[in-house]
Amino acid sequence: MANPDRSKMTETTTYTLIDGRKVATEIKEEIIQRVNEIKREGGKIPHLAIILVGDDGASQTYVDHKVKACKEVGFHYTMMRFADTISEDKLLKHIDQVNKDPDVDGFIVQLPLPPHISVEKITEHIKPDKDVDGFTNRNFGSIVSKNPLLLPATPYGIMELLKRYHVQTESKNCVVVGASRLVGAPLSMMLVEHGRATVTVCHKYTKSLADFTKQADILIVAVGKPGLITADMVKEGAVVIDVGTTRVEGPQYKNGYAIKGDVDFKNVAPKCSMITPVPGGVGPMTIASLLLNTLRATELRNA
Ligand code: GUN
Repeated sequence: MANPDRSKMTETTTYTLIDGRKVATEIKEEIIQRVNEIKREGGKIPHLAIILVGDDGASQTYVDHKVKACKEVGFHYTMMRFADTISEDKLLKHIDQVNKDPDVDGFIVQLPLPPHISVEKITEHIKPDKDVDGFTNRNFGSIVSKNPLLLPATPYGIMELLKRYHVQTESKNCVVVGASRLVGAPLSMMLVEHGRATVTVCHKYTKSLADFTKQADILIVAVGKPGLITADMVKEGAVVIDVGTTRVEGPQYKNGYAIKGDVDFKNVAPKCSMITPVPGGVGPMTIASLLLNTLRATELRNA
């Protein structure tokens, strides 16, 4: 092949792949050590309960990963499955029981829930000190506390990824695309409070999205629209974190589907200094944070 015309190449042609699987494995190894210490001290082994309503395939896969992670680190776990016809009242009663169960240190209700059940009513019913997803308003508010209780799991995982890849956030322009209650909103608060960053939050009402994303030293996208972020929307040398996990179906994919992020990885990656892949970026970190929160919930209860 002839020599490429360098003048047409982008300034940054190599980038670091932020490997969420590797960091999650490191965190799990740290947790295993702590579990071994707890065993030696005769303390309580962390116990996570998982509530799954209905038979959504994607939710089943996520839950399987969470169970596998509990087994890997030596946590106890309980799976509680309910038909998608369960009433909101009945589900609330089951949550009451788990809230009171002295052996369960933390639990999650896998989302989404069937449309007749209010997500807010259900999540707000979880005792904040067992809310290891960090979904309750109490834990959302706790982000701005000097001593947070249980941090929202996905944002916590992203902050941990940035930390472990030595990405400086202080005084950097961070643009968060997506203002959801579970990711974008808590993450933007964590970047301000814990990361000392200058943060812009964009959402579906933002006009001229690219005008904002092009300013980002650190661009974090959590929308759920595959390919939303194209190369022309990203600054040279930016750090890009892709939180999107959309199941796209098609006969060309093994298993009949593929998980796609919000970033056009192939064209965006060469412009970046660092970027997360999908899958294998943020996803494994959410599970690692869930384990860290379960360990913290156990230790807080036994302090
Ligand atoms: N559905 C998709 N992601 C999550 C998550 O992190 N926690 C729960 N409970 N449900 C989800």
